[in-house]
Amino acid sequence: MATISSDIHPAISFLQSGELVAIPTETVYGLAGNALRGDTVAKIFSVKDRPFFDPLIIHVPDFVSIQQWTLSVPDKAKILAKQFWPGPLTLLLPRNNVIPDLVTSGLETVGIRCPDHLLTRQLLRALPFPLAAPSANPFGYISPTTPTHVQDQLGTKIPYILDGGECKVGIESTIVGFDGSQLVVYRLGGLSLEKLEDVIGPVEVRLNTSSNPVAPGLLHSHYAPRKRLLLGNLDALIAEHGSSAAVLAYKTKRNLVDDTRQRILTPSGNLAEAAQNLFGMLRALDQTDAPIILAEPVPEFDLGRAINDRLRRAAAG
Ligand code: TXA
Ligand code: MG
Repeated sequence: MATISSDIHPAISFLQSGELVAIPTETVYGLAGNALRGDTVAKIFSVKDRPFFDPLIIHVPDFVSIQQWTLSVPDKAKILAKQFWPGPLTLLLPRNNVIPDLVTSGLETVGIRCPDHLLTRQLLRALPFPLAAPSANPFGYISPTTPTHVQDQLGTKIPYILDGGECKVGIESTIVGFDGSQLVVYRLGGLSLEKLEDVIGPVEVRLNTSSNPVAPGLLHSHYAPRKRLLLGNLDALIAEHGSSAAVLAYKTKRNLVDDTRQRILTPSGNLAEAAQNLFGMLRALDQTDAPIILAEPVPEFDLGRAINDRLRRAAAG
């Protein structure tokens, strides 16, 4: 199994020799490797069982370092990075040819972000290359938010998990790109639309589906537990599927369902807390012996949009 430790020095050595290390970020744990080495990047795809058409995000220690990997940076991207980095925002920017094709699946843009996690930023500062890092889960499954989640699924395939505790945002970064001068949101995530629009004005949301190939990896069915998940009116679903189902409730406990098979995202109705709990609770319910998971949408604003997006994709699995 992988060693789990908060010491960054072994992580530095492994990464310098082309090995993969799981790293903590504020969103979810990443499966990181030297983004400039083709053989290392290929290993990321193979450990995750991820198709090569799904591009990777690179992680940098600060804004200034992105000049090394990009051809140009639009003014709006500068404004956003200044405001929200380090943080849960990924910018799709025109890449230069230092970045291997494998990282971007041949696309002309590269996804870049500066994660808001002390240990990982220390790590990034100590390395002479950026880290390519998708979420550290097998392709299509729920993203990991603790070292144990990573160990459970990838522990036999990687040497080291850098322990940075539980992820404080809990949901992946918001991904934005540019269509001309128009800012486009391609993935809803840990930075809410409201916060983005406060800074940059109205944005266009173009979420990926299998019929919209702009971002090939943002597949319709994703973030899915192994069990079937149904999303809808929870009481109606429980009435239909029986109380042996596992239940993910927004804030109100359902008395018909046993506590061991039930999780409440946020008893106080706090959407940030719900986002932080989402993936861990889905994993826990996936591990019960219930035949199916029933879930209800949360309010559709702020981080609720990203939570509902993940629940819909999980339900499409
Ligand atoms: O919060 C996060 O973003 C986490 C942490 C580890 O940083 N990373 C993450 O990576 O969620 P991943 O690979 O699981 O999801 C990144 C998504 C993929 O769906 C991919 O298709 C999309 O970003 N993506 C990456 N580069 C892209 C590009 N150049 N154009 C369009 N989509 C891109
Ligand atoms: Mg992922």
